Amino acid sequence: MNDSLFSKVVYQIYPKSFKDSNGDGFGDLSGILEKLPYLKKLGVDILWLNPIYVSPQNDNGYDIADYRAIDPRFGTMGDFEELARQAKAMGMGIMLDMVLNHTSTEHEWFQKALAGDKRYQAYYYIRDPKADGSLPTNWQSKFGGPAWQPFGDTGKYYMNLYDKTQADLDWHNPEVRKELYDVVNFWREKGASGFRFDVINVIGKDELLVDSVNDQQEKSLYTDTPIVHDYLQELNQNSFGQDPNIVTVGEMSSTTIENCILYTRPDRHELSMTFSFHHLKVDYKDGDKWQNQAMDFAELKRILNDWQVGMDQGGGCNAVFWNNHDQPRALTRFTNDGSYRVESAKMLAQTIHMMKGVPYIYMGEEIGMTDPGFTSMDQYKDIESINAYQMLLERGLSEAEALEVIQVKSRDNSRTPIQWNDQAYAGFSTSQPWLEVASNYPEINVEKELAQGTIFPYYQELIRLRKELPIIQEGSYQPLLVDHPQVLAYKRQLGDQELLVFNNFYDQATTVSLENTNYNYLLGNYGEREASNQLELRPYETIAFLSR
Ligand code: NOJ
Repeated sequence: MNDSLFSKVVYQIYPKSFKDSNGDGFGDLSGILEKLPYLKKLGVDILWLNPIYVSPQNDNGYDIADYRAIDPRFGTMGDFEELARQAKAMGMGIMLDMVLNHTSTEHEWFQKALAGDKRYQAYYYIRDPKADGSLPTNWQSKFGGPAWQPFGDTGKYYMNLYDKTQADLDWHNPEVRKELYDVVNFWREKGASGFRFDVINVIGKDELLVDSVNDQQEKSLYTDTPIVHDYLQELNQNSFGQDPNIVTVGEMSSTTIENCILYTRPDRHELSMTFSFHHLKVDYKDGDKWQNQAMDFAELKRILNDWQVGMDQGGGCNAVFWNNHDQPRALTRFTNDGSYRVESAKMLAQTIHMMKGVPYIYMGEEIGMTDPGFTSMDQYKDIESINAYQMLLERGLSEAEALEVIQVKSRDNSRTPIQWNDQAYAGFSTSQPWLEVASNYPEINVEKELAQGTIFPYYQELIRLRKELPIIQEGSYQPLLVDHPQVLAYKRQLGDQELLVFNNFYDQATTVSLENTNYNYLLGNYGEREASNQLELRPYETIAFLSR
């Protein structure tokens, strides 16, 4: 056993949907506290909580109105301190979500700016229109529409790369940076032992803003700019970097391997690891999320392999994951969540958990939760889905066609409440939850999984193996069978030890050739197998072998 970064496993909790302790239909901190023994049993080290601060919840807490207070819907500061204390006593740390690229327009800074306070106006990107009266730049918000909104009745505009109630902060202003370092330090004192930095690679916009020529080039104007590294080094030095035990992860939008190496190489003193998302865009048609298309498996393999090899060779650290609160569930999206639900869930888990990096489990993954399959737009709550639906209608799709896209792509797919048991509201709450529970909860729920399921124990085993085997933590990564149309396979190597992992992503059996069969079975989803020259992989089969 050791305590290196690569030995850790993170569990992501979307607090709104994890467990409601007071019957208001909204998950809360006391609900998380109640379930700590469950998380301990799973064996995870760090609990990442999505934002829990005071917020109008237009973007589910990513629109923060007060960085230093808990939203009463989630509980009190006392609840947070108790949660951090009890988690620590059980050997788990709390990772908080820091949304430092923007604030809610309800934040005091923005309100003061609106009231005319020049000091706070300098906290945001507030600009005059162009001479011809058009918006300061032609940039688009990532949630649809222009990236500029009228700044009160001043005739000026403020920048919003996300929702119009999320105003981008101007990091060029040293006072802004100092405020944000203080926020991180405030939560360190309250007991946080990790931080996830929301869209942190877009904080380096230029002071002088110019029009873009196309979508791709537009992103390059504000993404991964060199100054982001300077800001992260300064943030590190002035806050979490003072404590070597703190674990950090940066969410990197449209990023590159080169930049993620720089963000995470220990000697750079920026972050512990990064999230990148290219592997979750392999079912976008021509790069457009809002058109359904089957996944491009060759592309999925290429991206995962490139990131594994690149980050390993560059000395960086990947956060490895399939799911989060912004993604439909991979089980529904990439595999078969019906007749092969159990096999698929284990195969996806093993693919990631035996890779190099730090695995993230998104709540519900450990029991094989699926997308809910909502049938009406009224069931969706996410602002991005609602905007996208309108946009699809404007593109000329019928209501039914637009719904079909939302059903597959909506972020609400992963945000439905955790299915704890087969009682009313799946045991999540005693009243109607803020977002409907998936209707398969009588079949798929924690109580049933713990009594007779095999996915949860599989996750326990993967976590245990990571802690036990240095090769999973530190071994180099080499892609195998790169041209195989169904199988993602790789070799990990540490000294003269080898770990082979084969994952069949399809419901057709297939065969792979093994030159050397001098391996012992380690773990698989169809039980014990022998390494043979012609190894048959059954539907969604995963097998790992360790050299003798
Ligand atoms: C990324 C978060 O994960 C997402 O949920 C949020 O909408 C955007 N950042 C904006 O904060």
